Order: sequence, then C-alpha cells, then structure tokens
Amino acid sequence: MRLASRVERIEPFYVMEVAKRATALSSTALCDPAQGGRPMLFLNIGEPDCTACDRVQAAAHAAIEQGRTAYTAATGLPALRQAISRWYAQRFQVDVDPTRIVITAGASAALQLAMLALVEPGDEVICPDPSYPCNRHFVTAAGGQARLLPTAAEHRYAPTAQQLESHWGSATRGVLLASPSNPTGTSIDPRELQALVDTARSRGGWTVVDEIYLGLSYDARYGQTALALGEDVWSVNSFSKYFGLTGWRLGWLVAPLEAVPALERLAQNLYICASAVAQHAALACFEAESLREYEQRRGEFQRRRDYVVPALRAMHWPVPVDPDGAFYAWIDSSDIAADSWDLCLQLMQHAQVTLTPGRDFGPALAARHVRLSFASSMQTLEQAMARLAAVDRAQLARPWEGA
Ligand SMILES: Cc1ncc(COP(=O)(O)O)c(C=O)c1O
Repeated sequence: MRLASRVERIEPFYVMEVAKRATALSSTALCDPAQGGRPMLFLNIGEPDCTACDRVQAAAHAAIEQGRTAYTAATGLPALRQAISRWYAQRFQVDVDPTRIVITAGASAALQLAMLALVEPGDEVICPDPSYPCNRHFVTAAGGQARLLPTAAEHRYAPTAQQLESHWGSATRGVLLASPSNPTGTSIDPRELQALVDTARSRGGWTVVDEIYLGLSYDARYGQTALALGEDVWSVNSFSKYFGLTGWRLGWLVAPLEAVPALERLAQNLYICASAVAQHAALACFEAESLREYEQRRGEFQRRRDYVVPALRAMHWPVPVDPDGAFYAWIDSSDIAADSWDLCLQLMQHAQVTLTPGRDFGPALAARHVRLSFASSMQTLEQAMARLAAVDRAQLARPWEGA
C-alpha cells in the first residue's frame, strides 16, 4: 500500500513504547505480590488521577437523558464560549471576546486547527526543545517544518527572544510555545514571553501558546495567560488537565477575531463539532462548586510537587528548575546514567517504577533527562521515592542489556 509521505515524517511516540513495556512487566512475577513481587508504580502518566467532578457527571447524564446530543455549531455551544470567556475575566482578569473562542476536541484538535490555518507547505515554525512531541507533528501534518531551538534550565527551558531573533529565517512564519510546558512543568517568564511575542510581531509572524496547563499553576509569578499580551496572540487550551476530562475530548482555541471564520470552515469540514454531550457537561465546570473542587485538586497537586521535588533532590536526582505548574518534574539524569532510555528500563526492572525518558521531547536534552509525573496519589509517590532511594545506583548506571 502506498501511503502519503507525510506519515513518514511523523515520528513514533516512544512514551507509548515505555508504557507498553511497563504494562507487560506488571503482569509478571516481578510485579505480583502473591509471588513476592511489587506492583509497578506508573509515574509516566500525563493525566490527572481524578475524573470529572460530580456536577459535570450529572450534567452529562442530564444531556443524554434529555436528548441534547445533536450536532452543535462548529465553533461550539455559545453558552460554553461565554462561560470560558467569563473564566478568563474572573480568574485571569483578561477580557476575551467569546466569539474568539472555538470549542474543539481537546487541545489536540485546537492545535490541528491552528496549524492548518497558519502553516503553508514549506513554512517553518519555531518550537522549543524540549516540548510536547505532538506539537511539532501538528506543524508537520500541515506541511510545515518545525525548527527546534535547544533551551536551557537558566531560561526555564524556553527559547529567548534573542535566540528567536537570530533563528528567524526567510521561511519562518511563527513560534509555537507552551507555558507551563510538558515535560518540564515550567512556565515562561512573563517578561520573556512578552519579548518573544514582540520579536515574532516585529518579523510579521504569529505566536501560538499551548496553555493546556494554565489552571494548574503553583507560583503567583507565573500562571497568567498569554492572551493578556494582545489580541493577535493565539492560545490553545483544554478541559483535559485542570478540569480532569481527558477522555471526554474537549478543549478550545482562542484566535484573533479575523481568523475565526476560517477556523469555523475548517472545523465544519474536519469534524463538524466537538462532542455535544461533553460540551453540555463542561458548562458545569464553571459552576462555583465545581471551581472550588478544581482549586482543591490544584492544591493537592501542589502538595505532591512540594513533596516530590525536595525528595528527588535529597537523593541527588537533580531537578534544575522548580516546576511551577502542570504535574511534571524534569530530572537531569546525567549523573545517574549515561542514557535516560536505559535508565528508565533499569528502573522498571529494579525498582518497579516507570518514568518517561527524554527521547520524545526533542533531541537536545533527550539522553540526559527523564520526566516524572506527580499526577499519582501521595501514597504512590511516597512508595516510589522510597524505591528510588533504595535502588543500587551502580546498577542504574549500567547500559540496559535486557530484551
Ligand atoms: C502540552 C500539551 N499539549 C496538548 C496536549 C493534548 O491534550 P488534549 O488533546 O487531551 O487536550 C497535551 C497532552 O498531554 C499536552 O501535554
């Protein structure tokens, strides 16, 4: 069968390979307490360990029972666009016209819409390295080329405006950032973000910021939306993380007003609308009681961060920058093992702990970093830290020789 060449340019998602191995190992004697083993602890998972809150579940049931399941407008339910706009005003003191908000099937579909609307074949888009791998693949899928700029801990793993300026070429059309970032859990310093947006503007380019972890912020210096920087800034968001609705497939895109008719045409043709049931249910996310619950959950994620990061550092697993958002710690593993992929395989085998090797997130820091997700219970995290502290470092430093 002859497939389009674009699929060749989409790299495999190695995280899935690690997850598959961990799952396979977890059904062996090594992980079976009945046979003297220990259950695998999965700290590789990038989704909250809680599901939809009660009010959202009840709203979903009501939508189904009342038959509110027909297609919605391609841009989403007007009431949901208004609710999101009010959330921006109340929580972030930013005025966002609801008609700039397009409801999508998760941040993934928002990224796809944005890239299809902005990228011509042959265009170049600048992305940070490391970053969430799918983001650069949305550029590729639209016919463009992602150019990865290596980042450093001292700049919170974000490109600097100077770097952006010096790498902006004749084919560059824009920059696709994320704040807070997956895999680092770090946000871009607000002054630096302003400088990045200004640099892109001065080159006639655009800025898209993936803000899927926007609500999950633990440091008042960050946690602001890039939408405050002007109506030409694009922002991608989702109900997956802060609102805990990963599998419901719901998110949104905020775009400049003049782009909305084009986005609407794309959405109509590509998927008609996001899930109607999920949209009706998501209205309940913005009720006061639900928002209180999300804030409690955020507090719990912060508690886990405040436990995990010092615990890692105490056992000499360096986390160069405090994660200020999301639920990831980006660990510099270069003093533990030469290769982070081998390290993750050794850890599964000898500690029954699964972490994510840096490989997916871009080549610059891949071999020297691993990502730990603290989206698991405190009990799981405490067990994992005890196992990591006890594991033989000499064993971890060896190259992986298993299958
Ligand atoms: C940075 C980032 N962007 C986008 C996504 C896609 O999320 P979803 O499509 O579930 O909203 C993820 C998922 O982990 C992510 O980490």
